[in-house]
Amino acid sequence: KRIAVFISGFGSNLQALIDACQRQAIDGEIVLVASNQAKAFGLTRAAEAGIDTAVVDKSDYSDRDSYDVALAELIDDYTVDLIVLAGFMRILSPAFVARFSGKLLNIHPSLLPNYPGLHTHQRALENGDNEHGCSIHFVTSELDGGPVILQAKVPIFAEDTVQLVAQRVNQQELAIYPLVVKWFCQDRLLMKDGQVWLDDHLL
Ligand code: GRF
Repeated sequence: KRIAVFISGFGSNLQALIDACQRQAIDGEIVLVASNQAKAFGLTRAAEAGIDTAVVDKSDYSDRDSYDVALAELIDDYTVDLIVLAGFMRILSPAFVARFSGKLLNIHPSLLPNYPGLHTHQRALENGDNEHGCSIHFVTSELDGGPVILQAKVPIFAEDTVQLVAQRVNQQELAIYPLVVKWFCQDRLLMKDGQVWLDDHLL
């Protein structure tokens, strides 16, 4: 399968996917890495792996819809089978989401439906939660609201800082994203009527 990864920053999730493809743990090829941020370190990671990169700068587009049309055209140029959002910090338009529904994944650093949106580690800490984690879901027009495919849980300890929690969660992200992408490339993962099937198991 041909995979496009959208990033905005450091790209640790991207790197985990690059590594998994390179060791053939995923029956897929990352053919494009696109970012809304020209300075995203993930672009360097992609270039070093010989993967095409593209920066789609919002200042070149008058509104969200025209930005997303540019993204969609890029995706079409690469005939992509799967779009993976990995630390991508833009909200996609309903038209884009509808167009790629069922082949658009995102990872969010919380145990959805808890803590959609930003600053999830800070919020979990402040709430005194003793459990936290990350969620991979199909993207729908509801922000961080699509059907969840897989989650990983981590404990929160009394003396934890945001950095410690973020690192513990990120470690799990890097473990589970390659697994979910592997399942998708094996045609084992399906979203149907807003529900997720892995083989014949309703998740
Ligand atoms: C990660 O915490 C991820 O959950 C969120 O963005 C953060 C940075 O990801 N979506 P990465 O290192 O850029 O992959």
